[in-house]
Amino acid sequence: MNTLSKNKLTILGIESSCDETGAAIFHTDQGLLSNELYSQIAQHAHSGGVIPERASREHMEKIITIVDQALTKASITLASVDVIAVTHKPGLPGALTIGVSYAKALAYAANKPIIGIDHLEGHMFSACIENDVKFPFVALTASGGHSSLYLVHDYGSYELLGSTLDDAAGEAFDKVAKLMHLPYPGGPVIERLAQEVNFQDFFAYPRTNMKNFNFSFSGLKTAILYHLIQQKAYDPETKQFLKSDDIAFQQQVASSLLVCMGDIFEEKLRRVFTTYPEIQSFCFVGGVACNKYLRSRLTSTCNQFKKQLHFPSFKLCTDNAGMIAFVGHFKAQQKLFSDLSLKIF
Ligand code: KG4
Ligand code: ZN
Repeated sequence: MNTLSKNKLTILGIESSCDETGAAIFHTDQGLLSNELYSQIAQHAHSGGVIPERASREHMEKIITIVDQALTKASITLASVDVIAVTHKPGLPGALTIGVSYAKALAYAANKPIIGIDHLEGHMFSACIENDVKFPFVALTASGGHSSLYLVHDYGSYELLGSTLDDAAGEAFDKVAKLMHLPYPGGPVIERLAQEVNFQDFFAYPRTNMKNFNFSFSGLKTAILYHLIQQKAYDPETKQFLKSDDIAFQQQVASSLLVCMGDIFEEKLRRVFTTYPEIQSFCFVGGVACNKYLRSRLTSTCNQFKKQLHFPSFKLCTDNAGMIAFVGHFKAQQKLFSDLSLKIF
């Protein structure tokens, strides 16, 4: 089943939900014509996470330039855009407000329709931009703010199977990295450390396996904290990491965390495939889906169950406006427009 019509449309997508300012142009026949991004990671690297006030200011400074760049790169002007699609939930309120306000101003000035997009729907369909994904598919969206499993029946038609009850998967990487005084975002650093010891499970951290499709990662983070304290690697009084010079120890922690995460994801995917045999494909999406080790673990599971498997390219895994423009495209074809009263959340 595929409900997309053949109406040719050009969509401008805008993303500003967290620490990335993005703008992209998607065209029905030509696909993504541009996907511009300004990442604030360097501004937040040493605070261990995103500072909301700073994120809003950065968006405000960059958004006009990024949208202009997206239009220029696609060799079009605003006049040839048919619809403006903008992330309006979920996210940091101040950050979302910048993107939504600018999208509304453009829509008003150029007399274009506007569509508010759910950021998570953007991630969910991000693998469909470059791949012919067969429906129904299951999407594991794993990022800094979310970890959820969706059963996707068609464009815009899906059900939530489960999500995290506490921390997100990416948050677990970020928080453990922070404990070890490693820079934000933690995921890529943890991956680099773990590959040096070839992804061995040194410390057997606890696997939180619930008998449904939900996740829980805060217990894992706490188990690692206690383990660091017990190994005299972390002083809870001063919040100091005491093994900054001991790379071998850091590699072992990173590797054990990654293997544990791989086991948790694999168990959940097996449960999904067994419960819903009609599923054709699996899409691993969101920032955590950049992780090559986790990709290879889930590839093996899909091969065992003979399911198609898709990952977006790295640029479409982390936050970006390409996925927002893509969802905007099928919502426009389904005539699901918003108007200038569009609000955040
Ligand atoms: O999707 P994203 O860019 O933003 C959110 O919507 O949160 O995801 C960012 C998250 C961060 O928590 C980061 O640590 C994680 O994705 N991440 C990774 C990797 N690259 C980014 N986690 C594991 N391995 C990676 N290579
Ligand atoms: Zn995201």
